Amino acid sequence: MSQESSSPRDSFSTKFGVIAAAAGSAIGLGNIWRFPYETGVNGGGAFLVVYLVCILLIGLPVMISEFLIGRSAQRNPFGAFKSLAPGKPWYLIGLMGVVAAFMILAFYTVVAGWTLEYIYQSFAGTLKGKDPIELKGMFDSFRYESYRPLLWFVIFIGLTGWVVIAGIKNGIEKYTKILMPMLLIMLVAMSVYVLTLPGAGKGLEFLFKPDFSKLTPNVILKALGQAFFSLSIGMGTLITYGSYIKKKENLGSTALSVAGADTFIAVMAGVAIFPAIFALSNVGEFDVTRLADEGLVFITLPSILYSIPGGPILSTMFFILLSVAALTSTISVLEVIVTYFVEELKLTRKRATISAVASVSILGILSVLFSGVFGFLNFTSANILLPLGGLFIVLFVGWSLSKKITREELTNSGSIKGKFIPLYLFLVKFIAPVAIAIVFIYGIWNAIH
Ligand code: PHE
Repeated sequence: MSQESSSPRDSFSTKFGVIAAAAGSAIGLGNIWRFPYETGVNGGGAFLVVYLVCILLIGLPVMISEFLIGRSAQRNPFGAFKSLAPGKPWYLIGLMGVVAAFMILAFYTVVAGWTLEYIYQSFAGTLKGKDPIELKGMFDSFRYESYRPLLWFVIFIGLTGWVVIAGIKNGIEKYTKILMPMLLIMLVAMSVYVLTLPGAGKGLEFLFKPDFSKLTPNVILKALGQAFFSLSIGMGTLITYGSYIKKKENLGSTALSVAGADTFIAVMAGVAIFPAIFALSNVGEFDVTRLADEGLVFITLPSILYSIPGGPILSTMFFILLSVAALTSTISVLEVIVTYFVEELKLTRKRATISAVASVSILGILSVLFSGVFGFLNFTSANILLPLGGLFIVLFVGWSLSKKITREELTNSGSIKGKFIPLYLFLVKFIAPVAIAIVFIYGIWNAIH
């Protein structure tokens, strides 16, 4: 999928290629790093329920909308809105997506850098024989008291830029087809293993037994934000990828496969982590929120992996797989900025990538050095920019785009049935926009009061 500004436009060669690339974008640190700690601090089961409802009623319709906008316009998000709605301000959604892409890269790549540190530490054996409290201490001192996060961040953003310039995403796809299923197998195996540990039941209860008294407007807003973040929607990543999907692919079923895989991996990460927290802490009334912060995966997963023979190898493998999952996501975020620079500002691909990487690095360095900046970028991009982008995307398809285009894209000009179209239209016209607006206004109102 190397895209030059020259036509004809590139496309994914197979159905599997499309799903692999979109799933590569969706599956990443959002599922394995962010989902568990957000679930942990926001009360467990009730958060999960709201999250799943958001995926079904809002996430899927937004994802289908992004695919269809991209495929019918054959452009980057900004250009897509310009060509589908000339003279109207919808293109601002595209610009907001570019801003969101900068913000996401500036904190996400930092975490991706942490995974490199943990590959190194697993390999070097420094995590061996440490209890969770010691592991937490090690994580904190790595993050707050050393300059290594800065080094890893620069390496990771450089790597992402290199892949995007070299246009070797096709090559990467070849490996991710093997590596991502491996990540999934490891997660499932870890889940099965932790379930045999004493105290594991408490963890499952925390994740699957909703206590709805924990639902506050803020928790609901965060579940919505997590759904958007995890599915890579609301900023045009999937508009960009949609523009590379061939006319004969079924957009509805593609979206369903991507969202299904993404959700399954997030839940599996939860099943591997929560029982482990309770088992490791060995106490009945353990307060999960004590461990549930941004260091969660970096503490619990090594603890589990090191309690099995072959710990160092398993832990090294796990963090390698996680960093690859992160890379296929950072590539897709950077792609949004680069495609915009190439198609709208007429830069060459190389210049576009270098200037994007350089400017992301400035913001990224700030987010490494100041955890307040990191927290702000993390909170604002996921919980504000993405839902806002998603709101406008469904409003656009529901109320502005001609139904003829929508139908054509969803039935591939009449060659497939598209029985779900009436339901889809109902969701994008009414349910999704109203739900996002309510959650959003109520959540923000509460956050500032
Ligand atoms: N969905 C990715 C993840 O879960 C992160 C991402 C967000 C990628 C937004 C692209 C756009 O890791």
